[in-house]
Amino acid sequence: MQTNLRGKDMITTQEWTKDELSVLLDVADQLKAEFAAGRWDHYDTLQGHSLFELFYNTSTRTRNSFEAGINQLGGYPHIMSPDQLQLEHGESAKETAKVLSQYGHALAVRVLGGAVDFQYPKGTEIMRDYQAGADIPVYNMQCDTYHPCQTLADLQTVREQKGSIEDQNFVISYAYAPEVRRPVSVPHSSVLGFTKMGANVTLAHPEGIDLDPEIVEQAQGNADKSGVDFTIEHDMERAFRDADVVYPKHWVSTKVGERGTDAEKEIHDGNQHWICDEEMLGTAKQNAIYMHCLPAKRGYEATDAVMDGPQSVIYDQAGNRMHAQKALMALTMGGRGW
Ligand code: CP
Repeated sequence: MQTNLRGKDMITTQEWTKDELSVLLDVADQLKAEFAAGRWDHYDTLQGHSLFELFYNTSTRTRNSFEAGINQLGGYPHIMSPDQLQLEHGESAKETAKVLSQYGHALAVRVLGGAVDFQYPKGTEIMRDYQAGADIPVYNMQCDTYHPCQTLADLQTVREQKGSIEDQNFVISYAYAPEVRRPVSVPHSSVLGFTKMGANVTLAHPEGIDLDPEIVEQAQGNADKSGVDFTIEHDMERAFRDADVVYPKHWVSTKVGERGTDAEKEIHDGNQHWICDEEMLGTAKQNAIYMHCLPAKRGYEATDAVMDGPQSVIYDQAGNRMHAQKALMALTMGGRGW
């Protein structure tokens, strides 16, 4: 397969065309099939290639799926946190990216948590600084606006579970959770990715727990281009009706001024009925699938019966993180075969 994706960044799926994303999903499926069959057809695709992985906060799925993935393609992961770099002493993100570009072949960054936590969109601005300095592909491993690598895995999961993404009724919904404060990056990337790939998307949340209006506008633009519906609902049950895919998860609004305040807590605590239990899931189509990017607050965002039930595909999603990211690396890092 010949592609022209070498050198391409993945900051948001908005910067990829539908055709480019489809190629990536095809390669992800191929790599997944090889992995399942115990075949090592691409063990040397990225031989000698280095992936720099820089994490501003903790990760189970993203870190290990990238690390295992580059290893399976013959390359090497360098895992770092900001405190291990001269960022601690004032060296800029741009300069750091420029320097690392001299040594390796891709830079993956998660800018979330710690000093940038909930100063939306500071994490994205820092991500763009890395991109501006880098001469190698930059992968967004999650910032406060986007989590494109999660969405690649989610698109792969829906395609394999439902046979296609196009014309599926996909619902991304707020769900209540106490204490945790999840960013909007997954719902943002979901509405962008699924409208682009031709699903009918419903975004459901209580009034006041909105996404960034600019992202909502982009999703509407995608939907118009794809000829599909993009709907906003403020009632979970109404949103679930007729759904092929439900993806209820917690997030906090991007609205500055609400953050961490009693007013914000009050809004969330007043919406504890936004939970995906068996009754709520039963309002979707009978063969609907339940998705969550994980980690989830069990018993609040969804019940154990749903998360561990027959309609749940949460571990397929987690598994597809590696296959989709292997495809991303194989296509963009310049290895053999693509
Ligand atoms: N879904 C996800 O990004 O998980 P991690 O935070 O464990 O990487």
